[in-house]
Amino acid sequence: MTELSGKRIVVGVTGGVAAYKAAELVRLLVKAGAAVDVALTAAGSRFVGAATFQALSGRPVWTDLWDARPDNGMAHIELTRGAAACVIAPATADFIAKLAHGLADDLLATLCLARACPLLVAPAMNRQMWENPPTQRNIAQLRADGVGVLGPASGEQACGEEGLGRMLEAAEIFEEIVAALQPKPLAGRRVLLTAGPTFEALDPVRGITNSSSGRMGFALARAFRDAGADVTVVAGPTEMPTPRGVARVDVVSALDMRAAVLQALPGQHIFVGVAAVADYRPAAAAADKIKKSAAPLTLQLAANPDILAEVAARPDAPFCVGFAAESRDLAAYAEGKRQSKKLPLVVGNLVADGLGGETNAVTLFDAKGAHPLPPGEKLAVARDIVSHIAAMIDPCTV
Ligand code: PMT
Repeated sequence: MTELSGKRIVVGVTGGVAAYKAAELVRLLVKAGAAVDVALTAAGSRFVGAATFQALSGRPVWTDLWDARPDNGMAHIELTRGAAACVIAPATADFIAKLAHGLADDLLATLCLARACPLLVAPAMNRQMWENPPTQRNIAQLRADGVGVLGPASGEQACGEEGLGRMLEAAEIFEEIVAALQPKPLAGRRVLLTAGPTFEALDPVRGITNSSSGRMGFALARAFRDAGADVTVVAGPTEMPTPRGVARVDVVSALDMRAAVLQALPGQHIFVGVAAVADYRPAAAAADKIKKSAAPLTLQLAANPDILAEVAARPDAPFCVGFAAESRDLAAYAEGKRQSKKLPLVVGNLVADGLGGETNAVTLFDAKGAHPLPPGEKLAVARDIVSHIAAMIDPCTV
């Protein structure tokens, strides 16, 4: 089961060279369990033929407004009825103009006008075409009409020029489709998270750290974003990519993390401490590499500030959520942390379940007791945590 299992998505392909990426998008959607109906414009079929989309989707491809296959002869109505979303990728300047003005002169434009499901467009065009005032006016109109505009990205273009106008990659569009289908209980909320490990330098070469990958923190960042929130992540050293639309501040040590959190804190509604912050740092980092000797080496450590406890103790504290990573006695330690730091919610996990890997098994601890969540991929677990938080903040939204 994936988030798209049992859903039907209409993919509209218009006439741009990025149509080759639409083939990959269809493949990703089908792999995720979606039923995909492809509607191809005449210009789109100049770039990638219907046979390719039919083979990838395993379903007939739609090109003609007068297609007689539906019993009532109304493909332009039937195709989007019951669909979860309609995605135009690539969306040319011409097609965007048609959408903005409600034109209906071919099957795809007509079904967009007749649809009852959300519409997403992934623009793809030369940078000058993108920047030109008519295109910008049309895009603003689509946004005002509630159409999701995905990208475009900046970079090298098929015409050889550089700039904004490249269609997003298929995987990015796929992620945006999944995001668009999530409920938005946190629309208008601002969320600050910490993620990953910290690194406490001992000398210019070595330091104290841990094996937090940052996966749980960035999965939560994505789940919060998908739930409609504005998200900022303060991340310790991790290679995790930043979800689109999420702001990121990279830090190294616990002291850096504390400073970045305090700077980003004003105006935040929710703060979540997912980072595995080192509790201690070397009392003094050596300026030069510490040389090996036969004598035992004793390190003097100083306690790091507890960032979460400090944020939660502020008079203007946002809704604060802590994590507890334990090697045993999860319930006792997690609930103890919740009470000592005066937090409404703590997410407890055993290090064997959650540290470093792709999956996690967590139990939520709040004033009502312990709530074990189904174990699974970190993104799925993160979505469950976010919906619990949304329900605690505003029971009416969920
Ligand atoms: O990054 P992954 O590989 O995906 O692993 C995820 C995880 C196991 C790191 C994550 O799920 C998790 O449990 N994060 C918290 C780890 C931790 O440091 O727990 P703790 O029990 O030591 O700290 C309790 C809470 O206080 C945490 O919210 C922590 O961010 C915060 N804290 C701790 C120390 C400190 N100096 N400042 C803090 O803010």
